[in-house]
Amino acid sequence: MTADPVKKTAPLLFFDTGMGGLSILREAQKLLPTAPFIYAADYAGMPYGMKAEEELSTRIPLLLGRLVERYKPQMVIIACNTASTIALDVVRSVLDIPVVGTVPAVKPASQMTKTGVIGLLGTQATIRQPYVDRLAAEFAADKKLLRFGAPELVDAAETKLRGEIPDLKTIDTAVAGLTAQEHGDEIDTVILACTHFPLVQEELQKSFVRDIQFIDGSQGIARRIAYLTSNVMWPKFPKNGVFVTTGTLDQLFPYRATLQEFGLTNLEAL
Ligand code: DGL
Repeated sequence: MTADPVKKTAPLLFFDTGMGGLSILREAQKLLPTAPFIYAADYAGMPYGMKAEEELSTRIPLLLGRLVERYKPQMVIIACNTASTIALDVVRSVLDIPVVGTVPAVKPASQMTKTGVIGLLGTQATIRQPYVDRLAAEFAADKKLLRFGAPELVDAAETKLRGEIPDLKTIDTAVAGLTAQEHGDEIDTVILACTHFPLVQEELQKSFVRDIQFIDGSQGIARRIAYLTSNVMWPKFPKNGVFVTTGTLDQLFPYRATLQEFGLTNLEAL
């Protein structure tokens, strides 16, 4: 039996645990405004940042396999640093379409810093990954890279996208987790190594007492998607996208304004 041919105008499938991947989708929509897309959120598995590697490297490929079978996308974008730093290779080995991952922006941060001290905020699972050690050794060996796991920022971003005010104490705790480390007061560049965190960048900047340059992977990923699909004839007009969740549809109700803003009006449960 041969696999179904993948249509060139097939959708792009974005994947995260919750709304974090919207920080990537936002940049992709700027470059490819009429590309059809599916946004998949594993709310039933959230938060990934507090889970063990073994569990995630089984769960993520299984879930993506089901999603690819259902939606037949032409490409999967893992819009989650935790999932990408743990499961990108295994996902690529089981899917036969291109898979773009999201990994901490250590290389650009290393080029941007003037003080040579870079902060990295991610989930606890991300900051302990050998993948991050390799990025640090390859691109920031002559810099200081201070890491801090700030899982509460995931909740802060989700709260904000429900139209509520995030708990600013959790933002201050994340910032203090970096600045209280040795050389922390010299940080001038912060890598947002969780896709949820750019959604609370404004709040993070307010909590730092000085100006910080923030960097995340979203623009680079959007450019990569555009490059990989440069031969695709996208439709003339945009169509609203699908938001599919492993959680319940009721859970999505408080996010309706955000979903509307991204054109995610077709809500489905997996
Ligand atoms: N947005 C995910 C990331 O980039 C993390 C969210 C979670 O912990 O579930 O790592």
